[in-house]
Amino acid sequence: MDFQLTEQQTLIRDMARSFAEGELMPRATQMDRQAFIDPEVFAKMGELGLWGLTVPEAYGGAGMGNVELALVLEEVNRACASTGVTLSVHNSLLGAPIHKWGSEEQKRTWLPRLATGETIGAYCLTEPNAGSDAGALRTSAKLDGDTWVINGTKVWVTNGGTCGVMLVYARTGTAESRAKGISAFVVPKNTPGVTVGKHEKKCGIRASSTTEILLENVRLPKSALMGKLDDGFTIAMDTLDGGRIGIAAQSIGIGRACLEAAVKYAKEREQFGQPIANFQAIQWKLADMSTRLDASRMLVHKAAWMRDKKERCSQQAAEAKLFASQTANFCADECLQIHGGAGYTDHFHVERLFRDARITEIYEGASDIQRIVISRAVLNGV
Ligand code: CAA
Repeated sequence: MDFQLTEQQTLIRDMARSFAEGELMPRATQMDRQAFIDPEVFAKMGELGLWGLTVPEAYGGAGMGNVELALVLEEVNRACASTGVTLSVHNSLLGAPIHKWGSEEQKRTWLPRLATGETIGAYCLTEPNAGSDAGALRTSAKLDGDTWVINGTKVWVTNGGTCGVMLVYARTGTAESRAKGISAFVVPKNTPGVTVGKHEKKCGIRASSTTEILLENVRLPKSALMGKLDDGFTIAMDTLDGGRIGIAAQSIGIGRACLEAAVKYAKEREQFGQPIANFQAIQWKLADMSTRLDASRMLVHKAAWMRDKKERCSQQAAEAKLFASQTANFCADECLQIHGGAGYTDHFHVERLFRDARITEIYEGASDIQRIVISRAVLNGV
């Protein structure tokens, strides 16, 4: 067993940290208020190769794995969770499945553009009546001669406004076929019939784009099908195993930002004639935050390592997301409490961290969905 990062992992983590501290931290509060990410941030991420971190070198990416992606996502999210989720979804929910399940044509068409950030990716699974119950989705894909025709509405699409390509899950079987009758399609956003619907105004991660995607008689060539017909649910779930590791890494980044802000404030703020860091009530909060963050990181790195070894890691990814997202919210709550009334205002970025942390227990499978995945594995030994 080796807990040491490799030289390459240390380099990539340090590069992400310096990008996050230099480019994101000074902008994060303003981007949250304006509710969009500065285009210069997107461009800088392209220069640094962050968009193509896990895209193989043969397709223009950095060819790294999930451990490196987790290291980068922790650093980026420590500075700006809106940028963090944008990057996580792009790499783990779009680039990764195209690489794993896509045809050679799909890989050659999309991976080089995804690697540079020229094209941003999105993942369209959720529908108004199919959230936690993803197998109930109703968007339909029907063959008309040699053409797929897709109709339906997708919601909560991260990167919906900024993306150029989407992975759309649609029903190719009967209405009763549930998980067995779903297929995955690679859909360029400029295809006629694709429109961006409502832009959600969110409590947190406000600078990230979250939209509806409306699909009305969207006609696609047969080659738009990704993987085998009716294999879409497996692709969606396998892809989310990777995505959940990304959100767990995001949670550590947010939690770490909370711990750092709490330490700084506790050393500066004086009450009863001394810094509040001298009080055991504060020290114990910091100890609990640090312990939970270290435990979360172990879970995340183990799940990422298993995925890199191509082992099934549904349980480990779910455990990492469940625990790390709870930790992010615990740290945000304790950090705000240490700041007192000041933390509840916009004088500090703590209120943004508090709002950003909340989503980690909801998207890419709410905490109770993670418990379903974990308990099924525990009970059935899967
Ligand atoms: N890898 C491979 N195959 C998998 C799998 C995985 N991780 N998980 C399930 N499958 C397969 C199963 O083996 C099963 O196949 P068989 O019938 O051949 O055995 C098939 O898929 C159906 O699986 P289930 O019976 O477990 O399906 P279910 O209907 O009971 O659903 C669920 C299980 C865990 C609740 C699932 O629906 C789920 O994860 N729901 C949450 C969806 C979610 O996370 N949505 C977030 C979308 S993205 C987002 O948040 C927005 C964003 O952009 C960030």
